[in-house]
Amino acid sequence: MNKIFVPPIKIQGIKTKIVPLIQKSVSLSTDSVWIEPFMGSGVVGFNIAAKNAIFADTNPYIIDFYNRIKDGDITSHKVRAFLEQEGKLLETGDSDYYYCVRDRFNEHHDVLDFLFLNRACFNGMIRFNRNYEFNVPYGHKPQRFSKAYVTKIVNQVKYVEDMLKTHSWTFLCQSFEKTIEMARTKDFIYCDPPYIGRNVDYYDSWDEESEIALSKALSQSGAKFMLSTWDHNDYRQNEYIDTVWAFCHKVTCEHFYHVGAKQENRNPVIEALLTNYAITGNTNELVEQRPVQLSFAF
Ligand SMILES: C[S@@+](CC[C@H](N)C(=O)[O-])C[C@H]1O[C@@H](n2cnc3c(N)ncnc32)[C@H](O)[C@@H]1O
Repeated sequence: MNKIFVPPIKIQGIKTKIVPLIQKSVSLSTDSVWIEPFMGSGVVGFNIAAKNAIFADTNPYIIDFYNRIKDGDITSHKVRAFLEQEGKLLETGDSDYYYCVRDRFNEHHDVLDFLFLNRACFNGMIRFNRNYEFNVPYGHKPQRFSKAYVTKIVNQVKYVEDMLKTHSWTFLCQSFEKTIEMARTKDFIYCDPPYIGRNVDYYDSWDEESEIALSKALSQSGAKFMLSTWDHNDYRQNEYIDTVWAFCHKVTCEHFYHVGAKQENRNPVIEALLTNYAITGNTNELVEQRPVQLSFAF
């Protein structure tokens, strides 16, 4: 199995563990554009590594970060110098320094500060309050930015920097409706929206109306699509799978642990991949494959 590339910006619900399953299950041709309306960390699309791709998200800082790498404004060298300097200041200033950078970011919105906060905050979370201020508390690791850790992040930035030299990737800050509208029938759309019915701590909120609008947009797009969502955990089932998404094929996979702030969200979750095509091939991880149903009416 190829090594999975882990991107520089982390997010809760990052799909690193199911990338191999997604890689085996997507249906892309050489002239398809990979379209990812909810890029988050970008781990899925960065590993699929289609020649042409559109990555979008409503979080402007994620998009700005990658656009600045693309423009050559953020380089792996700059990231090293920045994290070495900020890491030293964190070591001496500890939580006072973390909160000083958090205030600085909330005032000036520099995405290098965003990267720093993402790596120094509690659990690598991204969460904004209703005034769109980053509000994740300190992770309490003053020695976070060791030489090895900085090198790891620098290499992650370098990977994206290098990929952008040979791949045509576009990063757009917009809501999913606009991104899905861009799809042609030969393209492939991968969606990983915030999980409905669970704790949602993203830049935007997510509710039943959004889930229905997404289902409608995907079914009308004419493109092949895959949606990641949760199927069930020890406590609950995702009721939308058999209603809003009843027209989709479904495969599920086990042993993915969702890390959330609430104890309830730290339990094993069965993940579902919903598609508008049948997944074929060697998919040993799959525990269920549901045939297509066409009866759902909006
Ligand atoms: C579950 S995360 C995606 C995780 C990603 N697949 C990964 O593995 O890192 C969901 C993302 O959707 C974004 N988002 C929330 N509402 C959105 C909307 N209406 N349109 C586009 N993106 C949205 C959030 O900012 C967040 O980055």
